[in-house]
Amino acid sequence: MRIILLGPPGAGKGTEAELLVKHYHIPHISTGNIFRALYKDNTTVGKIAKEYIDRGQLVPDDITNEIVRNRLNHADAKKGFLFDGYPRNVDQAAWFDELLIQKEWKLDAVINIYVPDEVLIERISGRRVCESCGAVYHVTNKKPNVEGICDVDGGKLIQRADDMEETVQRRLRVYNEQTEPVIGYYQNKGAIVMIDGTQSIKEVDTAIKKVLGEMN
Ligand code: AP5
Ligand code: MG
Repeated sequence: MRIILLGPPGAGKGTEAELLVKHYHIPHISTGNIFRALYKDNTTVGKIAKEYIDRGQLVPDDITNEIVRNRLNHADAKKGFLFDGYPRNVDQAAWFDELLIQKEWKLDAVINIYVPDEVLIERISGRRVCESCGAVYHVTNKKPNVEGICDVDGGKLIQRADDMEETVQRRLRVYNEQTEPVIGYYQNKGAIVMIDGTQSIKEVDTAIKKVLGEMN
């Protein structure tokens, strides 16, 4: 199964992706997670990406698209994939279409999780992530078993550097200007499903799986 998950910052893309990839046995490809891992590994690309991420801006398309091309060359991508946070502007979407044509691969679904801004801000401000494995929690909506400690690997839970209020406002502006048009891009191709992301984590998961079940 080949899926793209779209939605604004804090919509729950990463949270839902974790549930979906376990169910469908496909890799979770989050360009945001890849950039954070590259920074943690002290790479040049990671350092460049972090400058954009910390300002709430998009990392340039040439860097992002190359990362996607490389990731799709890994053997596990032959089983399918779930993209979270890519494509993030219309140029990336068009570039990605070309790549899929070259590979003779077709998308099964493009899913847009929509959530109003005030809910996004509450979700992002309460988000905590594991410093070592990146697992995502929330201070009230998705608590770890032990406060401040990751259930998966015992790592310390921290706030993402780009989750500070000013950067969040910038990310929302960038989303409205550059990423929202991607919804129209896929609508024009007649291939997008809208999911109400204000429901609980489980309800959103059920709604997405229902749609995917009907498509396959
Ligand atoms: P990225 O890491 O992709 O961040 P984002 O798109 O801003 O999205 P978030 O990770 O903030 O939100 P999410 O939708 O995953 O929500 P989550 O599941 O965590 O990108 C970071 C940066 O990298 C970008 O700003 C950009 O600079 C760069 N970048 C990445 N991709 C790029 C690209 N393609 N091109 C250029 N640059 C790129 O949930 C949020 C919180 O809500 C959590 O605490 C969670 O527990 C909680 N929650 C989730 N669902 C629910 C629910 N249904 N009910 C209640 N609480 C919920
Ligand atoms: Mg995420």
